[in-house]
Amino acid sequence: MGFPALIVAAGSGQRLGAGGPKALVPLCGRPLYAWSVDAFRVARSVDRVIVVVPPGKADEFTEPGIETVDGGEVRSESVANGLRHLASGGSGDLIVVHDAARPLVTPDLVDAAVEALQSAPDLDAVIAAAQVTDTIKRVGRDGTVEETLDRSVLISVQTPQVFRLGALERAIETGDLVAATDDASLIEAAGGSVGVIEAPSGNIKVTVPGDLDLAARLLEPDN
Ligand code: C5P
Repeated sequence: MGFPALIVAAGSGQRLGAGGPKALVPLCGRPLYAWSVDAFRVARSVDRVIVVVPPGKADEFTEPGIETVDGGEVRSESVANGLRHLASGGSGDLIVVHDAARPLVTPDLVDAAVEALQSAPDLDAVIAAAQVTDTIKRVGRDGTVEETLDRSVLISVQTPQVFRLGALERAIETGDLVAATDDASLIEAAGGSVGVIEAPSGNIKVTVPGDLDLAARLLEPDN
């Protein structure tokens, strides 16, 4: 059985400095978001791909077979808009959420995250994440180090993130959407349980211009 996927692509891309939406920035000859759409089309666990786009820009998202819906001011509002769109079209009991800014996501990672949640009835969500390899310190407002954290218990969180649909809807209704930098944090704030699966190191996020070069090298190593 396949589940719906939301690819959130409504960010402004200011940090990339591309002068337009990040999701439409060319990467190896195609718009950034199209690489994620490809992976979700191939994933066995997904049967519907909804791309959440910058308001007014839906015409520029022309990949075949996708649905589009306008995004919100902040990331979690974009996810909320995607959920409302879904409610109007019927759906299964799980939903996958992915950032268009991670073009190297693989169908295998999407399917593994879905399967992990399907086989763990006590969990409300499963998220892709990597072990932290850098030493992480907390700094105070004056810029000096206050604490070195124990990195053996830290993970660096990515997408895809897979949710029980009802749990995500409730968490979004009650959560602080402006503060949330991912959707799993809304589940955590609502008292839900979030499981983790190991993501491959290549699942990078494109944020600043150097990330685009790295993504291009990873997608087409021979060029
Ligand atoms: O801003 P950040 O890099 O964390 O954005 C992560 C993802 O969320 C990106 O794919 C971006 O397009 C999306 N986003 C969105 N709506 C917003 C802000 C970000 O869909 N208002």
